[in-house]
Amino acid sequence: MAGVAIETPKGSGRLKLSTFLIADEFRNCGLGGTFIRALHDRWVLERVQQVHVTVAENNHDQLNRALRPVGFLTVAHEWHRYGPERSEYVMTCLPTELH
Ligand SMILES: CC(C)(COP(=O)(O)OP(=O)(O)OC[C@H]1O[C@@H](n2cnc3c(N)ncnc32)[C@H](O)[C@@H]1OP(=O)(O)O)[C@@H](O)C(=O)NCCC(=O)NCCS
Repeated sequence: MAGVAIETPKGSGRLKLSTFLIADEFRNCGLGGTFIRALHDRWVLERVQQVHVTVAENNHDQLNRALRPVGFLTVAHEWHRYGPERSEYVMTCLPTELH
């Protein structure tokens, strides 16, 4: 399997992208970008209002590069979320908004 995305509905047109991952051996070939565009197209069709994803600090740069083109913005940085020195970022996308 090259990649996996898990969506968790949060009610009121919102969902959490609980997992978005491309396997190490398939990275940097454009798969992540293609995958997130396909998901985003479906969110627009399904009129999903808001999608958010949380990511560990050390993975934020690479996830940001893949998700930013479809409109994800980093909206929060939670310090020490999982203990000392383990903080995470929260990224959000409003699929029905033009970007
Ligand atoms: C982020 C991730 C999905 C990207 O997948 P990918 O298939 O390698 O992405 P693509 O090849 O489509 O590249 C997308 C963009 O990210 C950039 N990119 C990808 N990996 C990168 C890296 N390690 N460092 C810097 N840039 C990177 C690419 O250059 C590309 O940017 P560009 O279009 O400006 O050239 C993949 O690295 C991954 O699964 N990382 C872990 C994600 C994670 O932590 N998930 C948990 C939270 S749910």
